[in-house]
Amino acid sequence: MQILARLCMSADGYVSTPNGWPPQVVDPAHGPGSHGIAEFLETCEAALMGRTTFEPALTNDFWPWPDLRVFVLASERPAGTPDHVTVDSDPARLLSALRAANRGGDVHLIGGPRTIETFRELGALDKLELVVLPFLLGNGLRLTDALSVETGLELESSRTLDAGAVEIVYRVAAGGGVSEAARAGWAPASQRD
Ligand SMILES: NC(=O)c1ccc[n+]([C@@H]2O[C@H](COP(=O)([O-])OP(=O)(O)OC[C@H]3O[C@@H](n4cnc5c(N)ncnc54)[C@H](OP(=O)(O)O)[C@@H]3O)[C@@H](O)[C@H]2O)c1
Repeated sequence: MQILARLCMSADGYVSTPNGWPPQVVDPAHGPGSHGIAEFLETCEAALMGRTTFEPALTNDFWPWPDLRVFVLASERPAGTPDHVTVDSDPARLLSALRAANRGGDVHLIGGPRTIETFRELGALDKLELVVLPFLLGNGLRLTDALSVETGLELESSRTLDAGAVEIVYRVAAGGGVSEAARAGWAPASQRD
């Protein structure tokens, strides 16, 4: 089982619109299975997310994850949550439940950034997949509003999707990212001690 975070982001780096929707929903190319999600989900058996990302599904016209077991990190079970959804306030306990239920498939860590950071801190984030959309938003939520900039990334693959989107798949590396000192110093890597 691998835990795979996959998010869409605008070309200027926002993972939500200014009013809090995932950016792909304002893309004219958005639809069932769009942005490579159908292919991605072929190896997934579970969806994992935080309460903020989960709650809009409760008032959707259709259940967004008909083929996946659903796990939600939330301090309280949101009203109207179907019985088959596992909700827990403790990330380590939720991870144990996820592992106990696993039948060998991968887990789609849908988001948002706070929940991705939570599982990264637990050492449970295997990959970060970004789908960069061909438009600018100018404002919204950034991935690194919550996800640590110390997250180490190793490029695994990239490809162009339909309608001008680009998919970038990173393995999350144990070694960490660009250090705070390097970023603060603004020195090119070649000029650092
Ligand atoms: N671009 C994309 O593809 C994409 C995908 C998903 C989401 N999004 C966007 O991301 C935004 C939401 O992201 P977010 O980071 O603000 O929220 P989130 O991760 O969806 O949910 C945050 C909630 O999860 C629970 N939680 C997270 N970490 C926890 C921890 N360590 N311990 C206990 N509970 C924890 C808390 O629930 P309680 O408050 O109940 O304690 C917290 O308020 C939305 O705007 C959504 O549209 C974008």
